Amino acid sequence: MLSKKKPSTEDGAESTLATTYSTRYFGERVPKYTMPRKGMEAEAAYRLITDELNLEGNPPLNLASFVTTWMEPEAERLIAQNNHRNFIDREEYPQTGVIHDRVVNMLARLFNAPEESESIGTSTIGSSEAIMLGLLAHKWSWRLRREAQGKPTDKPNLVMGTNTHIVWDKFARYFDVEPRLIPMTPDRYTISPEEVAALVDENTIAVGAVVGTTFTGEADPIKDINDMLEELCQKNGWDIPIHVDGASGGFCAPFLQPDFEWDFRLSRVRSINVSGHKFGLVYPGVGWLIFREKSDLPEDLVFSVNYLGGEEHTYTLNFSKAATMVLAQYYNFIRLGFDGYKRIMEGCMENALYLSRLMEKHHRGNMLVMSDKLFMPVLAVRSIDPSFSVYDLSANLRETGWIVPAYTLPPNAEDVHVLRVVVKENFSRDMADMLVADMRKSYKYVRNIEQKNIPRGKNRSQPTPC
Ligand SMILES: Cc1ncc(COP(=O)(O)O)c(C=O)c1O
Repeated sequence: MLSKKKPSTEDGAESTLATTYSTRYFGERVPKYTMPRKGMEAEAAYRLITDELNLEGNPPLNLASFVTTWMEPEAERLIAQNNHRNFIDREEYPQTGVIHDRVVNMLARLFNAPEESESIGTSTIGSSEAIMLGLLAHKWSWRLRREAQGKPTDKPNLVMGTNTHIVWDKFARYFDVEPRLIPMTPDRYTISPEEVAALVDENTIAVGAVVGTTFTGEADPIKDINDMLEELCQKNGWDIPIHVDGASGGFCAPFLQPDFEWDFRLSRVRSINVSGHKFGLVYPGVGWLIFREKSDLPEDLVFSVNYLGGEEHTYTLNFSKAATMVLAQYYNFIRLGFDGYKRIMEGCMENALYLSRLMEKHHRGNMLVMSDKLFMPVLAVRSIDPSFSVYDLSANLRETGWIVPAYTLPPNAEDVHVLRVVVKENFSRDMADMLVADMRKSYKYVRNIEQKNIPRGKNRSQPTPC
């Protein structure tokens, strides 16, 4: 989020937070955009901010976000007790580093890195940082290979679908790489090996594939892409890696789709990112980047510093960060184990399928669940009734507390308008029943308004009864 400097006065008067509670907590008005000259009591500051946050959405009803909204009290205690640890101070907090190493090892094995491989990895703030770092390493390796062959290095490209997250476009722009985008179609939202084959060449730094897309929760056919790419590389003497974006699906596929090959079982998959703070079940922000082999990360991208005491090697964009979410990730790994994660993922999936059946039953004719077989607990439904807008439905649902986003699919499927529900651990069947009941009310209300052409906003607080 970019924030702009605002005037310190409004209508000639200083912009202030109009404080409540009379003089119980606040003797003076609190300026909004200028640091107050005098401070206030801790309790007063706490109350002011807490009250302001009441305007936010209710996290358990936030079905828009993939990000974790609930952790166990013991995990919260661990987080609260360790907030003062800076992760980068490895010399000072060596055990945190040891725990980090264990998590990287566990993930490499979860993603089926061959036992003989020397996998390496790092925690990041989230998948975005992990994707940037993964692709940067591939760009670097590509350049080193080209330089060694005496070939030009001025036209790197990256092949990916328009179904990738915005961070892939950011990488291309920030790091000066040509994005070669595979468009979607109105009825297909993943990429195919043939489309990838048509775009790759000797200047391709990597192919991007997604396990659990942001838009529909589907997975690209990574094994087919891998096999096609292997053949092309052998034929042309290329060495094109696949980076798999497993931001959400990386923590679902191992438990829900064990036979689906998407990870280091595939020869061209050289790096994988995953968000610990999504189905890794940790609060934001933690992500992970795992390279299949040490050699997939060029040495000159790894920086060593010694000003914290010992020798520290880092491959991150930022320096300091909280150690807590790394510790919380480890907590979940040892607390839940493989079986615990599997149980939770299966529970989410069962509830997502239940919701899908309810939607099909109650919204037949106006909305369509977009895939008959869910890959992970994410449900995207498209509108098939032109007499109402999913955007109005989403806005109306918000009035009952539910946060269900509406958006268009990426090019060339922009005419498809969808609603998406991410089913997380705290979403029960009971909540699914309530959501669908509220959706039916909202649907009737919105359609009524749109058919009568009543200006938006009017009577919105009185939805038509079901
Ligand atoms: C497929 C995919 N990749 C990357 C990201 C970015 O992840 P993060 O929010 O962890 O930076 C997301 C976020 O939802 C995503 O869905």
